[in-house]
Amino acid sequence: MPPRAKAFRRRLLRWYGRNRRRLPWRGVRDPYAVLVSEVMLQQTQVTRVLTYYPRFLARYPTLEDLAASPADAVREEWRGLGYYARARNLHAAARQVVADGGRLPRDPDALRRLPGIGRYTAGAVASLAFGARVPAVDTNAARVLARVFGVRGKKGDAARERRLWTLAARLVAPGRAADWNQALMDLGATTCVARNPRCGRCPVRPVCAAGSRVDPRDPRARLR
Ligand code: ADE
Repeated sequence: MPPRAKAFRRRLLRWYGRNRRRLPWRGVRDPYAVLVSEVMLQQTQVTRVLTYYPRFLARYPTLEDLAASPADAVREEWRGLGYYARARNLHAAARQVVADGGRLPRDPDALRRLPGIGRYTAGAVASLAFGARVPAVDTNAARVLARVFGVRGKKGDAARERRLWTLAARLVAPGRAADWNQALMDLGATTCVARNPRCGRCPVRPVCAAGSRVDPRDPRARLR
């Protein structure tokens, strides 16, 4: 791996060790609970999920509990979170897994065959719950990688997406896939934000293609 990529990894993991967000799903290894949190976090602010996640798990502590529930009750539990298709898919996925023996697969490709599980969610479950060395690139992680490595193109552009996922796959820290993937997301959510990123206090600015364009001595420096 090129020295700059190595330095990026080292710096970001060190930062994450000290600055990670304390979230109720952090450190959770139960694949079902990881799946619930990641599905809720699709298209939804962290602050909203903070109330729904523990309540949902209290009502449905296991995949079997969810699979056994009537659809109406699941819908009711999801009320207010929006995008009900997610709840419908999650419920269908739970039923499918129970029908197939009751265990969520570790393999991202097998996970993606379940309803509502795309590339991101499959990568998140595989890495966070099972420690698999696979990437999970959400919007925040994509922005960080695009800036650090100077990947051009508009959000959603297919060539850009392909490049970012390839980059992300090479970068996943061996033995620390869960920390690494979440470190990228956290940096994007708190520091490398879309508008007015806080380059002045970014741990990876010295190795960032975009950040190197701002004044390194100015703690309030901002990327334009
Ligand atoms: N966004 C979605 N899932 C996340 C996670 N596990 N950590 C940080 N941000 C996230």
